[in-house]
Amino acid sequence: MVPPPSGHTGWSCSIIWTVNIVLKSSRQYRFLIMKTAISAFALLSLAAPVLSATYPLSDSIVGSAFYNAFTFQAISDPTHGRVKYVDKATAQSQNLTFASSDTFILRADFKTKLSASGPGRNSVRIRSNKVYTTHVAVFNVRHMPQGCGTWPAIWETNESNWPNGGEIDILEGVNDKGPNAATLHTGSGCTMPATRTQTGTSLQLDCNAAVNGNAGCGVRLNTAASYGPTFNGNQGGWYAVERTNNFINVWFWARNDGSVPADVRNGASSVNTDNWGTPSANFPNTSCNIATHFNQHNIIINLTFCGDWAGSVYGSSGCPSTCVDYVNNNPSAFTNAYFDFASLKVYS
Ligand SMILES: *[C@@H]1O[C@H](CO)[C@@H](O)[C@H](O)[C@H]1NC(C)=O
Ligand SMILES: *[C@@H]1O[C@H](CO)[C@@H](O)[C@H](O)[C@H]1NC(C)=O
Ligand SMILES: *[C@@H]1O[C@H](CO)[C@@H](O)[C@H](O)[C@H]1NC(C)=O
Ligand SMILES: *[C@@H]1O[C@H](CO)[C@@H](O)[C@H](O)[C@H]1NC(C)=O
Repeated sequence: MVPPPSGHTGWSCSIIWTVNIVLKSSRQYRFLIMKTAISAFALLSLAAPVLSATYPLSDSIVGSAFYNAFTFQAISDPTHGRVKYVDKATAQSQNLTFASSDTFILRADFKTKLSASGPGRNSVRIRSNKVYTTHVAVFNVRHMPQGCGTWPAIWETNESNWPNGGEIDILEGVNDKGPNAATLHTGSGCTMPATRTQTGTSLQLDCNAAVNGNAGCGVRLNTAASYGPTFNGNQGGWYAVERTNNFINVWFWARNDGSVPADVRNGASSVNTDNWGTPSANFPNTSCNIATHFNQHNIIINLTFCGDWAGSVYGSSGCPSTCVDYVNNNPSAFTNAYFDFASLKVYS
């Protein structure tokens, strides 16, 4: 899907390769540099600490390993959804989570008609036990929740220090409406430049959660295959996030995309993000100190219904009835409201 920056492909000169590694900290800068080998050579001696774009595998989470790597959060939904997050025992007994040797399923109940005065639809929210700062995470997702009223998310944050500890939304949307938007939410003083090296389209530029109704600074991806029924029709694909102190990048490759990097496709024991091409979304540190606006993050996977976002735009989404009424009364509409993870690999 994402061609590398022009001039990248086929360059094998070792000086350029070395500069490429050294100046990994700034992709745009590197891109300019690569076009002029002479100035690249001149700058090489100035670039002191050698940063590598290669990350070793730290966590390979497949099948039942999700149960060890994540904790179930049976909490009330902070976003006021028509949901009841259940604990691990309930999730397993109701088959809302299911693991096999190569699968982890996380779903909402699709069998029960709800009483309007009772709790919301049973669903699952899990949070990684480990925390991460600079890292790469690759989510190999076969299927994501779909259905009117659904609001699924794969994201990273520090819940006890929100929004000052930052939030990275990797995959998130509502009511089956794609494409995906990758979004940051922060405290004040973190904004994004309008022009960036990315294939997606910038939305709001101020990441501050206190402005624009907490829209954050989002980037709309350039392909319908990144979300919902279209994502599922392609057997999903891969989402990846790379967080450094100088930028945060998000990539998406559909399952049938010819340009999926081999290390991503194979779940390799190390990855080199320098070979991954232009990201879908790029959040540089131009006017945002990434190291101070983002602290240790958990990875969170959740599926809620209606609430602050899916509920508020439900009426304009082409979905039937009202959101809460639909979720209460149509359990079978949520047969496909599930994540199917082939793996989660974290490199740090
Ligand atoms: C689900 O994830 C999104 C992250 O984008 C977050 O804003 C929201 O609070 C979460 N909802 C629940 C119910 O946990
Ligand atoms: C539990 O869920 C899995 C995955 O969707 C499915 O294959 C299995 O048949 C379900 N088990 C029961 C008892 O419904
Ligand atoms: C962005 O990162 C570069 C490279 O590490 C650093 O020199 C610069 O101070 C950072 N800028 C901001 C605003 O954090
Ligand atoms: C959240 O951030 C605070 C402040 O940086 C830190 O002390 C805490 O350990 C973080 N929480 C987790 C779960 O890492």
